[in-house]
Amino acid sequence: MIVKRALARAQKQSNSLRFLNCCNTAITGEPLGFVRRPYSTEGSKTTHFGFKTVPEDEKEHLVKHVFSNVASSYDYMNDAMSLGIHRLWKDHFVSKLDPGRRAGGSPLSFLDVAGGSGDIAFRILDHAAKIHGDHESVMNVVDINPEMLAEGEKRSKETPYGNTSRINFKVQNAEFLDAIPDNSQDIYTVSFGIRNFTNIPAALATAHRVLKPGGVFACLEFSKVDNSILDTLYQQYSFNIIPLLGQVLVGDRDSYQYLVESIQRFPSQEQFAGMIQDAGFTLAGSGYENLSFGIAAIHTGVKL
Ligand SMILES: C[S@@+](CC[C@H](N)C(=O)[O-])C[C@H]1O[C@@H](n2cnc3c(N)ncnc32)[C@H](O)[C@@H]1O
Repeated sequence: MIVKRALARAQKQSNSLRFLNCCNTAITGEPLGFVRRPYSTEGSKTTHFGFKTVPEDEKEHLVKHVFSNVASSYDYMNDAMSLGIHRLWKDHFVSKLDPGRRAGGSPLSFLDVAGGSGDIAFRILDHAAKIHGDHESVMNVVDINPEMLAEGEKRSKETPYGNTSRINFKVQNAEFLDAIPDNSQDIYTVSFGIRNFTNIPAALATAHRVLKPGGVFACLEFSKVDNSILDTLYQQYSFNIIPLLGQVLVGDRDSYQYLVESIQRFPSQEQFAGMIQDAGFTLAGSGYENLSFGIAAIHTGVKL
């Protein structure tokens, strides 16, 4: 019954037409000047860090370093780089997910992975309260980076949830989630985090492990633009403007160069949907929704 409801809800959500849902249909083609690099970790002890190839055991450290650098200017830079659009994507991500205890149901356990900024966690708790009158469900925010978590925890003090047992912050690697028991979570969210993980299939398998049967996996991530002209403009903006903004606004070109390279290296919508299925999730329809012509995409799967 729970599963049916989750699937029916996922189906309904994937069918709903929203203003940000610019569906990926007609136009294909590679962006000028770029070679798509297929995502693969098979048979190798190296991985990618942006466009660099690095030993697997170094990537975690390098990613931590990037987010330690950007933690204090995270919101400011996100707004500058996306002209505030990341807020609309996050709002849509949460309203599509529609989290919250239903009438007669038990409080839920939410897990926001790579959730250091608290952006998704606060939106989920706000949505649960406003739309479902849910003031009991709890939020677990985990992130590999203590500085990002500290930012989120600091911000939580300005919300109704700070210093309450409704939200907690833990340092955890998404690939293992050692502190999160099997079959314990109702909803797993990850927003603009998964492309930074060293071993994405391991993180997806862990997401499947920690979700209850009927639990929902939902990911918001940068993706592939579905219009070749727009994609060319977007690539120009990403590679020429974003690192420059990093340099000019916060004196850090390298971290922002990594961010745009990591977006480029992330698998396509269809490849990523396949990886989610490989981890054991059931998809509703294609399993994804494009936002702003595929600049970002929401992927969802249900653990049956
Ligand atoms: C771009 S931020 C996204 C923060 C937030 N979810 C949001 O949407 O604003 C990416 C986050 O992923 C975290 N991260 C990177 N690798 C991770 C891993 N293996 N496990 C958990 N978190 C990780 C980083 O520390 C950083 O906080």
